[in-house]
Amino acid sequence: MQTDSSFTFVLFGGTGDLSMRKILPALYEAHRAGMLAASGKIVAVARHEEDRTGYLQWVNEHVKAHVAKSGIDENAWASFVDRIEYVKLDLGKAEDFVKLRDALQDQSATRVFYLATGPSLFVPICHALASVGLNENARIVLEKPLGYDLRSSNAINDAVGEIFAEEQIYRIDHYLGKEPVQNLLALRFGNALFEPLWRREWVESIQITIAEELGVEARGDFYDNTGALRDMVQNHLLQLLSIVAMEPPHSMDSDSVRDEKLRVLRALKPIDPRDISKVAVRGQYHAGVIRGTSVPAYATESGVKTDSATETFVALKVEIENWRWAGVPFFLRTGKRLADRVAEIVVNFRAVPHSALGASALRAGANRLVIRLQPNETIRLYCLAKKPGEGMNLSSVHLDLAFDQFFKEGQMEAYQRLLLDVINGRLALFVRRDEQEAAWKWVEPILNEWAASGKPKPYAAGTWGPAAASAMLAQHGTCWLEEEN
Ligand code: BG6
Repeated sequence: MQTDSSFTFVLFGGTGDLSMRKILPALYEAHRAGMLAASGKIVAVARHEEDRTGYLQWVNEHVKAHVAKSGIDENAWASFVDRIEYVKLDLGKAEDFVKLRDALQDQSATRVFYLATGPSLFVPICHALASVGLNENARIVLEKPLGYDLRSSNAINDAVGEIFAEEQIYRIDHYLGKEPVQNLLALRFGNALFEPLWRREWVESIQITIAEELGVEARGDFYDNTGALRDMVQNHLLQLLSIVAMEPPHSMDSDSVRDEKLRVLRALKPIDPRDISKVAVRGQYHAGVIRGTSVPAYATESGVKTDSATETFVALKVEIENWRWAGVPFFLRTGKRLADRVAEIVVNFRAVPHSALGASALRAGANRLVIRLQPNETIRLYCLAKKPGEGMNLSSVHLDLAFDQFFKEGQMEAYQRLLLDVINGRLALFVRRDEQEAAWKWVEPILNEWAASGKPKPYAAGTWGPAAASAMLAQHGTCWLEEEN
C-alpha cells in the first residue's frame, strides 16, 4: 500500500552508519515496492559532502551494498536516487537551518525529521529546528540510545517535549518493527487457544533470549560506554517482555497497545540492590572460537579499554507483580559472541497435575511453546505422545509452524515497516515516553550496583555465557533452552 500522502523525509546523520546500513536501504525497499507516494522526497543532511553530486556518489558507493534482500533493480534504484536531495549543514550554524527551511518548500507534505545521530545532538537539533519554525506539523524520530540512564533520558525527553508534542515523537526500538514480533501479537490475540493458558496457573516460567554471534564490530567505543544492559535489556528485551506478558488490548490503536505494555513495565518487581547477585548475571567475552573461527577477547577490541568492566552478556530473573503473573519467573538473556544467533521466547508450561500415565510421562517433561523470532521464524509446540509399541511410554514430540512454508512473500524489514509507519503517522510501534521511563527506572538499581562494584564474569566467545547464568535457572529447577532448530 502506498503512503497516504506526500512527505519530506529529512535525514540528519545522512552519511552515518545507520543511514548507510538501515535507513536508506529501507527507504529504497519501500520505494521499489511502490509503497512511497510518488511526490515524496528524501532530504539528506550532513556535514561531510559538499553538494548533492558528492552525496549521491557516497550513496551509490556505500548504500547499494546494504540493499540485501531483493538485490538492486537498477531502474528502481535510479528513480529512488532521484528522490534524494542534499543539504550541507553545520549544526553549530543557525544560518544553515534557514537554508534547510528554504529547501523544504512543500508545505503540504508531511515532514519527518529523522535524527540518526548521537543522542547528544537530539536537543540542539530540535532547538535549531524550532528556531526556524520547522517543528510545526512535523514528526521527529529519535534513535536509541535515548539517554544513558533515567536522568539523562528524562533530560532529553523534557527538552524535546518542549518543542514537539508527544504525538509528534517517534522513539525507535527496531525490535517492534520485526515481522515475528508482530506475529506474537497475532498469536496471542488472534487465537483463543492460548489465552486461557497464558497465566500463572499454567505457565511455570518464560525465557526470552536475544543471542548474537557478532562482537562489538566497529562500535567498541560506543559499546564500552554502554554495555548490554543499556544496549539490549532496557529497550529490546523489556519491550518483548511487555508484549509477551501484556493483557489483551482493547484495540490495536497506538495508545491501547502502549497502555497495556506500560502496565507490565510498571508491574515489574523492583530489584532490591541486596538481591542483585541472585537475580542478575553479567559477563564479558574472552577469546574463543565461533563456527570454527577464532575471535578475540572483548577487552582487546578496538575502542575498548583493556581493563573494561563493561558487560557483553546479561541474564536476569524478572517477576511481574500482577494477578496474571505473580510468582512466574521470566528469565531474560542477551549477549554478544555467543554460540548462536537466535532470538526466541520459550513458554514452559506446568506438568500435568496428576500423571495417570506413569513415570515415563513425568520423565518426558511438560508442554512447551517456543516462538523463534530469528533466524527462521518458527513456532514449535512440544507435546507428549505415546511411543509406538507395547506399554505406555511417552516421548516429547513437536508440532512446527515454519512461517516461510505458509507465506511465500518475503518478510518486511523492521526499518521499512517503521519508516512507513512514521510517514503514515502510526505510533503503535514506537515507544511512548512513559514506557521508556518505566524501563529505565526498573534497570537503574542494577546499573548503579554494577557501576559501584565487581566485574563481569568471563565467558569464552562461542559459548552460552557464564556458568552463573545456568546456575540461576537451576535454582528454579529449569535450564535455558539451547537446541538447534
Ligand atoms: C541494536 C544494538 O539495537 O540491536 C546492537 O545496539 C545489536 O548492539 C542489535 O547488535 C541487534 O539487532 P538484530 O536486529 O540484529 O537482532
